[in-house]
Amino acid sequence: MKTITVGEREIREAVTMSEAIEAVRRGFVDLADGQFEMPTRTALRDGQFLVMSAHHRSTATAMFKTLSLNFERKPAIAGTVTWSETGRLDNLIADAGAVTALRTGAAVGVATDLLAPPEAGRLTLIGAGGQAPDQVRAVHAVRPLRQLTVVDADPRRAQSLIQALEPELTDVELATATDTASALRTAEIVCCATNATSPLFPESALPAQVHVNAIGAYRPTMRELPDELLAGSTVVIDELDAILEESGEIIHALQAGAITKDALTELGTALTAPTADYGKRTVFKTVGVAMQDWAIARLLADKLLP
Ligand SMILES: NC(=O)c1ccc[n+]([C@@H]2O[C@H](COP(=O)([O-])OP(=O)(O)OC[C@H]3O[C@@H](n4cnc5c(N)ncnc54)[C@H](O)[C@@H]3O)[C@@H](O)[C@H]2O)c1
Repeated sequence: MKTITVGEREIREAVTMSEAIEAVRRGFVDLADGQFEMPTRTALRDGQFLVMSAHHRSTATAMFKTLSLNFERKPAIAGTVTWSETGRLDNLIADAGAVTALRTGAAVGVATDLLAPPEAGRLTLIGAGGQAPDQVRAVHAVRPLRQLTVVDADPRRAQSLIQALEPELTDVELATATDTASALRTAEIVCCATNATSPLFPESALPAQVHVNAIGAYRPTMRELPDELLAGSTVVIDELDAILEESGEIIHALQAGAITKDALTELGTALTAPTADYGKRTVFKTVGVAMQDWAIARLLADKLLP
């Protein structure tokens, strides 16, 4: 029996963003097909510790993830992902911070590819923390990114993100902004990746046609999007049970009567039966589900286990 441990560098070397997007796309289709046993995650200390698990029935493989979150700490997310199979004795343990950022970016890549107009190339990113680089990489992997504007409550973080991404984005015009509304005015794609507890912008700040990804809020007390945006958009989510338990913005919009549950489409269902026209405004809201971690862990196991 062999157990191998992989850190951030090995994960990045082993899995490209495009591979992660393909693996997570197949995972969402399998999720819609009932291929996963995936309990809603356990949140301890009001979400400061998370325990997640997913079992893929047809391959008899499973992923277990434990996390601690602390937004005063950098990085905010730390923990481990364990890959396990009934068919072989070898195990893989991976750095959960890197797997989480990669799989969260990958989900955004899948949703953006499905929902954003093919030529959409202007991205505004709100939140320049640990998740931010993979949000940008994911959009870059699926759309012809021409312009990136980064906004953060701490302008130094926005600036450092731009500097860190510069070598990868030589073909992209890069800027930071301090005023969110003006940064949104000409956006074609928006990524929200903050730990905010109230909406980051009013619906009126967005152009008539836009695709918005929101990954930040993962507790009922957190929100990034206003009710009015959700009410006027096609809303695609990662998984209904998880969203109803954890997505502050969806819970708020449902309670306010701005949307109904029928208005929410799971990403796997949307991928299986795509609609020709999703309308001018689309939103992808994800709180993150264990299947995504399973998908990345499977890629790592396939590449790295003997
Ligand atoms: N959906 C998912 O699958 C998923 C996965 C991982 C993390 N998350 C969540 O995403 C959020 C971001 O995670 P992270 O690891 O990047 O955290 P982080 O603490 O590294 O970064 C958060 C950033 O958001 C900025 N910010 C906060 N409020 C803001 C506001 N109102 N306007 C502009 N900027 C603001 C902060 O200054 C900070 O730079 C967290 O809430 C985290 O729990 C979700």
